[in-house]
Amino acid sequence: MSYLSQTPEDKKTQEALLKQGAIPEHIAIIMDGNGRWAKKIGFKRVFGHKEGVKSVQDITGACHQLGVKHLTLYAFSTENWNRPEAEVKALMELLVKTLSAEITFLHQNNMKVRAIGDLSMLPPKVRADFEAAMAVTHQNTGMSFTLAISYGSRAEITNAVQEISELVKDGKLNSTEITPELISQHLYTKEMPDPELLIRTANEFRVSNFLLWQIAYAEFYITPVLWPDFRRQHLYEAIKSFQKRERKFGGLLS
Ligand code: FPP
Repeated sequence: MSYLSQTPEDKKTQEALLKQGAIPEHIAIIMDGNGRWAKKIGFKRVFGHKEGVKSVQDITGACHQLGVKHLTLYAFSTENWNRPEAEVKALMELLVKTLSAEITFLHQNNMKVRAIGDLSMLPPKVRADFEAAMAVTHQNTGMSFTLAISYGSRAEITNAVQEISELVKDGKLNSTEITPELISQHLYTKEMPDPELLIRTANEFRVSNFLLWQIAYAEFYITPVLWPDFRRQHLYEAIKSFQKRERKFGGLLS
C-alpha cells in the first residue's frame, strides 16, 4: 500500500477541507485499541500492533498531502515498558522494521523524522536506527514525522525542571527569567509548535501522560474507531470537527 494512494472520494474530501478552513499545523495522535482489535478477531495483541502500522502509513500520507507541518504519534510510553516482555520485544522489532521499510519514502518526500522520549531506555539497535534516520532527514523541510517512544510527559517536564535548575544554580539564569516559553524550550518538543488537534482512538477519554504541557490549548477529538481501523477518512472527520470549533484560548469570541 502506498502512503499516498487516494480514492477520488478522498481527493474530493481533501480539497473541501483545504477550502473550508485551516488545517491544524500540528496533529498529535494517541493510537489506542490495537490489542482490542486483535482480540476481537481471535488473534494475539501483537497482530493488532502490526495492523496498526498500516494506519500509521495511511495517516502519514494523508497528513503530508494536506500540508500538515507536524505529525506526532504516541508509539510507546514509559508505562509500556511494564507490558509482558514478549509484547515489548515485538513492538521494538516493529519499530525497527517499519522505520527501515519507510525511511526512503519519508526522505524522498522531504519529511523529517524525529523521536521524542527517553531514548536511553531503548535497545541499542532501535536507538541507533532512529538516530540514523534523524540524521539523514535532519535538513528536510517538509512535514516532521515524530514518534514518541519511551515517552512520558512527566519525565519530560521533570527533565526540563532539572536543566533549568542547573542554569539557575550556575548563575546563568535568574529565576525571574523562567517563563512558559523558556520551559517549552527545555522540552523534547522544543523545535515544534504545540499541537492544535489531539486525536485519541478506541473511545478512551484520557491523556495518558502525553504532551501534558504542550496540549494546553489543543482541541480534543475522541473516536470509538480502534487504531488498526483508523484511516484517512477518519482523519478527515477529525479535521472537519476541528474546523468547526471556535478556539478562544481562554478569551472571548469576538
Ligand atoms: C495502543 O494499543 C498502542 C500501542 C501501545 C502501540 C502503538 C504501536 C503501533 C501502532 C505500531 C507500531 C508503530 C509504529 C509507528 C511503527 P493497546 O495495545 O494499548 O490496545 P488496547 O488498549 O486495545 O489493549
